Amino acid sequence: MPSMDESWQMRNGMEIPNRSVLAAMTNKQSHGDGRLSDDEIGFLLRRAKGGFGIITTAASHVQKSGQGWEGEFGVWSDHHLPGLTDLAMNLKKYDSRSFVQIFHGGMRAPSSLTGQQPCSASENFISENEGHSRALTIEEVEETIRDFIDAAKRCESAGFDGVELHGAHGYLIAQFLGTNTNRRIDRFGGTVEERCEFLLTIIRGIRAVVRPDFAIMVRLSPVSNEIGITLEETKQVIALLIEEDIDAVHISCWDVFDVQDNGKTVTHEICSTFSDSIPIVSTGSVWTADDAQFVLDEGAQAVGVARVALPHPDWPSLVANGNSLSRPPFSPEELLQADLSPVFVDYMRRWKGFVTDGR
Ligand SMILES: Cc1cc2nc3c(=O)[nH]c(=O)nc-3n(C[C@H](O)[C@H](O)[C@H](O)COP(=O)(O)O)c2cc1C
Repeated sequence: MPSMDESWQMRNGMEIPNRSVLAAMTNKQSHGDGRLSDDEIGFLLRRAKGGFGIITTAASHVQKSGQGWEGEFGVWSDHHLPGLTDLAMNLKKYDSRSFVQIFHGGMRAPSSLTGQQPCSASENFISENEGHSRALTIEEVEETIRDFIDAAKRCESAGFDGVELHGAHGYLIAQFLGTNTNRRIDRFGGTVEERCEFLLTIIRGIRAVVRPDFAIMVRLSPVSNEIGITLEETKQVIALLIEEDIDAVHISCWDVFDVQDNGKTVTHEICSTFSDSIPIVSTGSVWTADDAQFVLDEGAQAVGVARVALPHPDWPSLVANGNSLSRPPFSPEELLQADLSPVFVDYMRRWKGFVTDGR
């Protein structure tokens, strides 16, 4: 079995120096018009300096109306290019490969932020306050696909190594994949293949406009009762993705130690079928070196982490050296010292038990 400090390759041959992946983390630190802030750039550079093999940015919206969170940076316009270029060029000073996570919030893009009724694959109930989403017309679906493609091209022009298409956590791509949220009767709804059409058309469109060594990774939630996705369907989705020119799949497990009814983890289930065909990154509740090795032993090529990288920006080397790692809660001062801005620290107060004076 590989160890965390071994290099590996994406399907396109891109060399990744080790098995540590900084998973996407929304951090609310950027500007109202979607331009990246120095705080968000500084936060990511600190983790690149800390030795992560891959740095993934926070989710970034491809359309103004797809914004999910206040302070989220955007990739929907050329006015974002200077900030994106600044980040990409500075990341090149380190050994990390750089990925922008691109997404559209769909029914999870609040009207309070976008000024528009949220849209989705179908008309879906959101909440008492927000009401229902509107189903995108076919022209709007095609326009959204074009915006994903333009956003990926923008990331390539800025100098990033790739994009991660955010098909996890119930946002627009997942809303197309799920049976609960996609009841369309056109070519974008129906069977698993048809519900995948939105994602597959985005991938083909990106591939047609970027250079061959620009990597495309796809992030999925393997199981979601809310959206309506089973593990079996996710396997069918991955089988379809493997037919496309993509370079890795990233599964978001939230807890990699959870087991299915058959006693196997989701990582094992997916990697035992697909690891030979495509690299799999798996993420969720990894803290220590042993946790990370468990994920590799389950068959993943690389291990994603989010929360542990907040107090421990040097996580890859700490893990490689077998250092013990302090656990939550962390004081605001500890997090500020690890290059989180006061805005990000405040956001982390919402994550139960993470900040000493938070929830
Ligand atoms: C503050 C915070 C923001 C997050 N934002 C994103 C995001 O923008 N995109 C995404 O795919 N996942 C996001 N996640 C989920 C993480 O990428 C990761 O899958 C999850 O936190 C589980 O990993 P962990 O146990 O190592 O934290 C976020 C998690 C946290 C803690």
